[in-house]
Amino acid sequence: MAEAVQVLRAGGLVGLPTETVYGLAVRAFDERAVARVFSTKGRPPHHPLIAHVAGEEQARALAANWPEHASLLASAFWPGPLTLVVQRAPHVPSAVTGGGSSIAIRAPSHPVARAIIAELDEPVAAPSANRYGCLSPTLAAHVVSQLGDAVDLVLDAGPCEAGIESTVVDLRGPVVRVLRPGAVDIASLRAFVKDIEANREAPSPPGPRPSPGLETHHYAPRARLRIASTSAEAVAAAREVASRGERVGLVVHAGRELALEGALVHSLPADPVRYASLLYRTLHELDDAGVDAIVVQRVPAAEEWLAVADRLRRAETKE
Ligand code: TXA
Ligand code: MG
Repeated sequence: MAEAVQVLRAGGLVGLPTETVYGLAVRAFDERAVARVFSTKGRPPHHPLIAHVAGEEQARALAANWPEHASLLASAFWPGPLTLVVQRAPHVPSAVTGGGSSIAIRAPSHPVARAIIAELDEPVAAPSANRYGCLSPTLAAHVVSQLGDAVDLVLDAGPCEAGIESTVVDLRGPVVRVLRPGAVDIASLRAFVKDIEANREAPSPPGPRPSPGLETHHYAPRARLRIASTSAEAVAAAREVASRGERVGLVVHAGRELALEGALVHSLPADPVRYASLLYRTLHELDDAGVDAIVVQRVPAAEEWLAVADRLRRAETKE
């Protein structure tokens, strides 16, 4: 960790474990390092980064104003996987915010991330440590295999607990709005903000996107991915792929143990939080095994599955 702080101070890039996914961290005020993050990820320059802070005080210093809801949500969920979008303060480098006038901020709860930010004593900008459009990393090995030598140091703290990115909430308007469903579920937010807008289907409206994470093809494995309505349909679809001599991965849930000849079968938990914690890891494993196609059983339409359903929809191969 001491070495990581040195690397950051010297303008380097660090693969940083958080409670959601691994981040690609730089000093938020180091514009050259921030530029390297964009080139390393292959990320378009207008996609803003999240500033990771120690807590509310550091967050306020990055914001032009700090709405009441920001205080409310920060005290309820920080440190933790909730990202707050507010107006940015003028001294924040515009590269961090993708040239925009707002900034996304969160205080991670992972002890390693917290220790680094505390020691550095300033905010760290960090997107997920994957190449643009690809699966987010939930293991240090995922960071190394996707970004390799482009990262100066990767801290390995084992698997990320949530396994899915933070929930991003927009606090700029009169109504608090979820821009990206994530590790904090909507019901937990609603306990603090009664009339929160959850934007269930997140249709991309014309014009500038409210959040670049709403890109329709994002978080995708290399193999083509298809969602099937039921486990029976998923099995049938996987069997069909296998019958063409292709390698196929099958992802079902709700505790079903099934075997299918010629297929790599993963049975994920029926609980949305535990499912989320294993989702990216499972897709990485199937990619690493070299499957041509992945068939995933559709998850329930219930609100607590919103984040998982969102990532699966974005991972699905568009015809
Ligand atoms: O859990 C996470 O949030 C992880 C860990 C590393 O903290 N980070 C992460 O960063 O997922 P990234 O860059 O992969 O995704 C950031 C998300 C994107 O969906 C982006 O659109 C949104 O946050 N975002 C960032 N700044 C924003 C802003 N100013 N306005 C609206 N959305 C913003
Ligand atoms: Mg990302």
